[in-house]
Amino acid sequence: MHALGIDIGGSGIKAAPVDVATGKLLAERQKIATPRPALPEAVADVVKQLTTSFSWSGPVGITFPGVVTDGVTRTAPNLDPAWIGLDAGALFSQAAGNPVHVLNDADAAGVAEMTFGAGAGENGTVLMLTFGTGIGSALFTRGVLVPNTEFGHIEIRGHDAETRASERAKELHDLSWGKWAGRVDEYLHHIEALLSPNLIIVGGGISKQSDKWVPRLTGIRARIVPATLLNDAGIVGAAMATMTGTAPDTSGVSGTGH
Ligand code: BGC
Repeated sequence: MHALGIDIGGSGIKAAPVDVATGKLLAERQKIATPRPALPEAVADVVKQLTTSFSWSGPVGITFPGVVTDGVTRTAPNLDPAWIGLDAGALFSQAAGNPVHVLNDADAAGVAEMTFGAGAGENGTVLMLTFGTGIGSALFTRGVLVPNTEFGHIEIRGHDAETRASERAKELHDLSWGKWAGRVDEYLHHIEALLSPNLIIVGGGISKQSDKWVPRLTGIRARIVPATLLNDAGIVGAAMATMTGTAPDTSGVSGTGH
């Protein structure tokens, strides 16, 4: 099965067709800068351009950098407040002219890493963290995802953690590797106290330079490994989410609802 994966990020929107059985991209990915302001119509227009430029007909998976339940975007800390409460599934399926599935970006990257990357075969508690414009999280046990965790927003020293330890915070405050790694280390200590993961997978663009900072993370019990799919994890996970049984259930309709 093939699906188009689209990864909406704070700085760029990337897409490629994916073979969901192997996790391989079927064509070179394309990237368009995220429109500013990142209003829904403008982002939907980029989704349309990308779908058209691959002449795509078939399922489309789309990641979003915020909480997504049943196609509705619930938060958008690094885009525009206009997304809050919006039926992004409906907006994007019209733009793409194809059925779409929308999910959180870190959840998508985590699912891809657990299937084809650094988390393959891991049964314990695994936490994937993406360091980019914000900090995204995806939590697994026995390979099953708990969708929409938001561990980038725990409070450290009175601040939202991602404002101190994301890749953007490093750039914004011009932090050295040592100084930034110290902040990430402090963040991971909090996370470890809350979740006791067996494995932490660190992803996002900055994981490409993991040799500069991962060795500086000291005293964390969990194993820490860089993501192996790097920048493609979101695209691959988005495409996988279009397959029945792979997408996280965020509808809330399947339980007894007490
Ligand atoms: C958002 C998350 C998202 C992460 C990475 C955070 O600010 O709250 O939902 O996964 O950024 O984009």
